[in-house]
Amino acid sequence: MMRPLLSLLSLLASFAYAAPAAPDAPGWQFTLKGNSGIVALEAIVVNPTLVLLFDRAQNDPLQIDDHPAWGGLWNLEHNNITALEVVTNSWCASGAILSNGTMASIGGDPTGFPGNPVIKPGNQAIRLFEPCTSPVGEGCTVIEDPNLVLIEKRWYPSATRIFDGSLLIVGGMHEQAAFYNTDPAASFEFFPRKEQTSRPSAFLERSLPVNLFPRIFALPDGTVFMVANNQTIIYDIEADTETILPDLPNGIAVNPPSDGSAIMLPLSPPDFTPEILVCGGSVFDQTLTSHNFTAQHPASSQCSRITVTPEGIAKGWEVEQMPEARVLHELLHLPNGQILLVNGASTGFSGWNSVNDTVGNSNADNAALVPALYTPSAALGQRFSNAGMPSSGIPRMYHSTATLTPQGNVFIGGSNPNNGSNFTTGFEFPTELRIQTLDPPFMSMERPKILSAPEKLSFGKRVSVPISLPNSLNRQDANVQVSLMDLGFSTHGFQVGARLVFMDATISNNGKTLSFVTPPNGRVYPPGPATIFLTVDDVSSEGVMVMMGSGNPPPTLE
Ligand SMILES: *[C@@H]1O[C@H](CO)[C@@H](O)[C@H](O)[C@H]1NC(C)=O
Ligand SMILES: *[C@@H]1O[C@H](CO)[C@@H](O)[C@H](O)[C@H]1NC(C)=O
Ligand SMILES: *[C@@H]1O[C@H](CO)[C@@H](O)[C@H](O)[C@H]1NC(C)=O
Ligand SMILES: *[C@@H]1O[C@H](CO)[C@@H](O)[C@H](O)[C@H]1NC(C)=O
Ligand SMILES: *[C@@H]1O[C@H](CO)[C@@H](O)[C@H](O)[C@H]1NC(C)=O
Ligand SMILES: *[C@@H]1O[C@H](CO)[C@@H](O)[C@H](O)[C@H]1NC(C)=O
Ligand SMILES: *[C@@H]1O[C@H](CO)[C@@H](O)[C@H](O)[C@H]1NC(C)=O
Repeated sequence: MMRPLLSLLSLLASFAYAAPAAPDAPGWQFTLKGNSGIVALEAIVVNPTLVLLFDRAQNDPLQIDDHPAWGGLWNLEHNNITALEVVTNSWCASGAILSNGTMASIGGDPTGFPGNPVIKPGNQAIRLFEPCTSPVGEGCTVIEDPNLVLIEKRWYPSATRIFDGSLLIVGGMHEQAAFYNTDPAASFEFFPRKEQTSRPSAFLERSLPVNLFPRIFALPDGTVFMVANNQTIIYDIEADTETILPDLPNGIAVNPPSDGSAIMLPLSPPDFTPEILVCGGSVFDQTLTSHNFTAQHPASSQCSRITVTPEGIAKGWEVEQMPEARVLHELLHLPNGQILLVNGASTGFSGWNSVNDTVGNSNADNAALVPALYTPSAALGQRFSNAGMPSSGIPRMYHSTATLTPQGNVFIGGSNPNNGSNFTTGFEFPTELRIQTLDPPFMSMERPKILSAPEKLSFGKRVSVPISLPNSLNRQDANVQVSLMDLGFSTHGFQVGARLVFMDATISNNGKTLSFVTPPNGRVYPPGPATIFLTVDDVSSEGVMVMMGSGNPPPTLE
């Protein structure tokens, strides 16, 4: 009796799964946008139309003052780039925006590059980019004060804004360029400085030699979650103490040279319970030198997820699988709370010309061209899907980036597993300057609009803003989501600082007013710039950029 019923059910189920989308239903698509002139190796949105890019000071085609540029402002409206004058080498730096809207680029490369003699060492540099309101970047420049420096030299560090609006700066290495971190800056410091010496970190010692670009997250209680190698801690900034959490399962390491990615899942009221998701990376013998590895070394498809509460930590990491193995990829928040997985490769390592069998010059091979979506609220085993996702057609290997834009689509650039720019043909993975966007289906639909918003928003307040809704979405039973987002700083497979906080929200009966409640304090959303998106039934508006908090500068020592 059971058998016919089951097969009928599975027959019905297979029909349901096989049902093709209506031919004119909008889908996800990649769109080629133009040429960035420098490698989009670091990317951060600085205003509604501009993405600030940094590269290595090398032989890039974009010129400024008769030498190759290594900084620029990518214009999302015009799809072109304005070169910026940068003094120090920003290669493999971190960055974030302070509570007063100033972007700080942190650390970088200690050396120059032949053919670009103007370059100064960048490993102790702090480059400031003051708030830029011009949609085309007119008058917006990078400011480098030779007296404003990091306490320690840092190449491949991570920096994220914390509850008082300043930056916590974590790890990196001093000078030596190698496969591993063999010259560690195993310490923390702040910008602006909170003290005159850096704070030693046992975690950064213990996680050597695989702890560059530590994956760090400002938790909603003000402490900081950190992942390096296969290890995790919670760092209490105020007490200067580290609490050791369970290792990632199965020996997976997730920092260069085995760049996995990690993200804090969206925080929701009333509890804002944090969960961390860590995906990809690889298992390898860290006692071997790079020449003993191959570009075909398998990446991992493992994701590990933990709830950062005493019960969640006691339960440990929950393991699930991506549709394919990846290194060098990015995990990004979408305004509806889904996570986008994009870029990267399914075998090999970061860097170039250092494994035994490079492909072209790349230490990695087998570009992963098809993005996937992760739905955090779905059941374990059913969270990932790449159904209907297009192929990008462009490998995005080492030194590539991705960031959500205020328009609601995803900017994708870079890839350069080469020594400087290399546009020679006839080998795999040359320097990539083409910019694409990955456009969600809603980009070609009628969308909700936030018509205006106050420039500054206080914490813990109800706010009403005028909106417009397409008729199809103006329904009492529609699913309304309002997200307050930090779009993060993208480099080396990690969107440092990225954050999505959902806000309780309602839409008035006439569909013309949206009211929402801002996060309770600067621990849930560190004070500083934010982008607000309204999503109705998975159709997201363009984002509006606001200042969360006073907009005052972070505290300084004196
Ligand atoms: C970018 O394109 C716009 C519109 O065509 C043009 O006005 C502007 O001069 C261009 N900027 C650069 C830096 O090419
Ligand atoms: C993490 O890595 C260390 C060093 O390789 C190893 O001793 C430990 O067993 C790993 N942890 C897990 C859970 O695999
Ligand atoms: C790794 O490869 C190099 C040759 O490239 C060799 O000299 C070395 O002994 C090998 N073994 C280890 C453990 O690194
Ligand atoms: C490098 O690859 C070659 C060819 O596959 C192999 O013979 C050699 O043993 C490899 N060397 C190392 C150090 O793994
Ligand atoms: C670019 O890389 C190819 C492949 O390794 C190499 O043959 C060529 O010499 C490189 N060109 C430059 C300018 O470095
Ligand atoms: C990179 O290229 C530069 C300039 O051609 C050269 O001087 C340098 O030795 C190269 N470095 C490596 C690691 O190949
Ligand atoms: C923001 O604060 C930083 C750190 O104190 C300072 O360097 C910068 O000039 C400030 N920016 C503005 C616009 O006040």
